[in-house]
Amino acid sequence: MADAVFTGPEPDLADLLAARPAFAVHAQDGLCFEGVPLNAIADQYGTPVWVYGAGSMQARYAALQAAFKAQSLDVHIHYAVKANDHLAILSVFRQLGAGADVVSQGEFLRAQRAGIAPQNIVYSGVGKAATEIEAALAQGIGQFNVESAEELEMLSTLATHAGSTASVVLRMNPDVDAGTHAKITTGLAENKFGIAAADIPELYARAANLPGISVRGLALHIGSQILSPEPYATAYAKAADMVRTLRGQGLEVTVLDLGGGIGIGYHDEPGMNLAAFAAVVKREVGGLGVQLLMEPGRYLVGPAGLLLASVVLQKQAGKRFVVLDAAMNELMRPALYEAWHGILPVGAHLFHGAATPADVVGPVCESADCFAKDRALPDLSPGARVALLDAGAYGAVMSSSYNARPRAASVLVANGQFHLITPRQRLEDLWADEILI
Ligand code: LLP
Repeated sequence: MADAVFTGPEPDLADLLAARPAFAVHAQDGLCFEGVPLNAIADQYGTPVWVYGAGSMQARYAALQAAFKAQSLDVHIHYAVKANDHLAILSVFRQLGAGADVVSQGEFLRAQRAGIAPQNIVYSGVGKAATEIEAALAQGIGQFNVESAEELEMLSTLATHAGSTASVVLRMNPDVDAGTHAKITTGLAENKFGIAAADIPELYARAANLPGISVRGLALHIGSQILSPEPYATAYAKAADMVRTLRGQGLEVTVLDLGGGIGIGYHDEPGMNLAAFAAVVKREVGGLGVQLLMEPGRYLVGPAGLLLASVVLQKQAGKRFVVLDAAMNELMRPALYEAWHGILPVGAHLFHGAATPADVVGPVCESADCFAKDRALPDLSPGARVALLDAGAYGAVMSSSYNARPRAASVLVANGQFHLITPRQRLEDLWADEILI
């Protein structure tokens, strides 16, 4: 993710393509994604436009399942809705048999709207509001991942009032450094997430006696964009120890939620080695006799999406600036985390021209509105199109209408066809809900 984590040489256009089998360059059509020319999508729906590939999502889901299966592990996958909450994408994962991991009532309702049964939804998050909890209980949500003693007491009270029983796992903070960007690490004692391991035994015992609560097990999530199985091994070993401690106290533990965080290769580095990851799961927690759950987001959708943009102009000002019609309000990750996203031109001839350094920026009035610095790219004249890669996770969900820029359209590619799944927001929709007094 952040350049600080990646130390290798910058991949060139050929490297980026070689690492991404869903992309191909055709002499006539230019850059294609899952067999569809990106020019065809831009011609029909304009730019900027998000493009997602159902085939890529299905392939990634299958690869994760296969890695677990190779270890004879039965892990229920609960797609982390926060990575990309589009109904069409939730529906792809529902059809694959996934449940959902949600962090708000909005995400909970989105998952349901996409057909995911409430029993297959787990509710994470450090600050669930009472109204959100009540709504989830009323719908029969599958599991609450409780993050504090305070939340546990609140949940007990609300469930008792509602005459229901909440299935609960306690999120343990294992105090493990996931080796990822500081803004997305979650498993250190200093982070706001989870319950300190030292407090778990007492709280678990309390949960077992609270009305309205059925405590089932533990959850942990140590961070995002994790590229090595090592931090997982440390964290899962601690979770396994805790399961044994709890059982030693006569408490029943039947569920372990392994969290999310599997990292992808934003450069051309390999992402997480799934076989090695699954082997760690097997070794550390495979023998516990618990139902295993996992909450991946980025791994499933990150490489399955891109942001297609057009060049507004190239500007020479000491250096070359390529100004796009997409900006930080669409894809915020570079501005927020110094994240590196590959950029490919769409025109076939552009893959052969000389590449020289350019800063790739958007039109928003902030210096942070910069997608790439000193990136080797061909000459890109106005109207040329580019694809910002690996933007399927934490892209559209984090976008805004800053600078009164309407939300981009989204398109889903499936079986060689493309379908509009969100029309471009109209300018007048920007203020349609505002009240002029
Ligand atoms: N479960 C929990 C409790 C989480 O907090 C998260 C992500 C996930 C699962 C899914 O993690 P994943 O598999 O996607 O790594 N906006 C940042 C990432 C924030 C991740 C927050 N939590 C980014 O763009 O890199």
